[in-house]
Amino acid sequence: MAATNTTVTDLYCSKCNARYDINSIQTLCQCGGPILVDYDYHKAAKLIDRSNTVGRASSMWRFPEILPVFDTENIVSLGEGFTPLLPAPAIGKDLGCPHIYFKDETVNPTGSFKARGLGMAVSRAKELGIEKLIIPTAGNAGSAVAAYAARAGLKSLVVMPKDVPAPFLVDSVYHGAEIELVEGSIADCGKRAAERAAAEGWFAVATLKEPYRIEGKKTMGYELAEQFGYTLPDVIIYPTGGGTGLIGMWKAFDEMETMGWIDGKRPKMVAVQADGCAPIPRAYDEGKEDAGMWENPTTVAAGLRVPSAVGDFLMLRAIRKSGGTALAVSDDELMACTKELAAREGIFSSPEGGASLACLKKLIESESVKSSDKIVVFITGGGYKYLDVLEDYI
Ligand SMILES: Cc1ncc(COP(=O)(O)O)c(C=O)c1O
Repeated sequence: MAATNTTVTDLYCSKCNARYDINSIQTLCQCGGPILVDYDYHKAAKLIDRSNTVGRASSMWRFPEILPVFDTENIVSLGEGFTPLLPAPAIGKDLGCPHIYFKDETVNPTGSFKARGLGMAVSRAKELGIEKLIIPTAGNAGSAVAAYAARAGLKSLVVMPKDVPAPFLVDSVYHGAEIELVEGSIADCGKRAAERAAAEGWFAVATLKEPYRIEGKKTMGYELAEQFGYTLPDVIIYPTGGGTGLIGMWKAFDEMETMGWIDGKRPKMVAVQADGCAPIPRAYDEGKEDAGMWENPTTVAAGLRVPSAVGDFLMLRAIRKSGGTALAVSDDELMACTKELAAREGIFSSPEGGASLACLKKLIESESVKSSDKIVVFITGGGYKYLDVLEDYI
């Protein structure tokens, strides 16, 4: 065994605070709340000198002291994370905001930020001796779990909607995953995955239904802090489905503040969804703490077609606490912005990234951001897997 020097201590429920042993295999808490990972932050702060990163990995495994894996042998990595923060010279000029940055997650293994969460979940699954992983997915998370399970020598079963863009199916099959296609949305896939998990002993790595995907996603928050010299931007725009990234970054900011790495000034967290599936903006507008179910979800941005999210209350809490907001954009708006990202900035994004830019335009129009603000626009996945969809909008 080669120790990672992790300072992980135990697990806790984000709803009722029940504590769980770090060596136990956990899904949701008995109360139904998502379970999160805790650390000895005092110890971590002593172990990590964030100003001297020589020899540290140029990946999401940069600070293993605040990640949940114990043994380096269990780290299953394809080089995920540590993605570029690209300035936006053309679009910044068009919009009169000189401090726009794109967090370019398209360059991750398997083409999206899902590599972070699933890389972490698969690593911990390996460490805990889990052998079979099942996932309900709109596409990108399926590709990621299939690839990381292949690298770890684990089995995977990917449950996707029937109308999933073909590349997600093809690469998952190439990675050796078993596939089941389901009529309906990711919510229907979730029900089917839960049935098969119970009947056949698969371990479900569905969003926030196990504790570790969020630990991978939180690394986006650590990276932003490092890339901005440990002062955070003013606004973060995040295309939201299950919301792991948003919740993960908020956790990262809490952790860094506890370790004394940043002060209490937080970015406004902005969740963007599509008009045809907007449970989070609806709940935000109605002042609700939970989002409930969105009936008949439709949008070309497959990753945003998430009609209900188990972590809705955590997202809404973070958005409100940060002074941020939640907005919906139309498919036409998000696709126009997907084109603009490619044509003006050379970034070939999936429709979800287009949604982030479309959201920024709305924030500018409503004067919810200032031209002097430092704004991070998340481009969460690449366009290559959505060629059929993109072709329709040429
Ligand atoms: C490219 C892309 N962006 C955003 C999302 C939404 O991510 P999350 O479910 O973490 O909110 C997804 C989810 O599938 C996705 O594939």
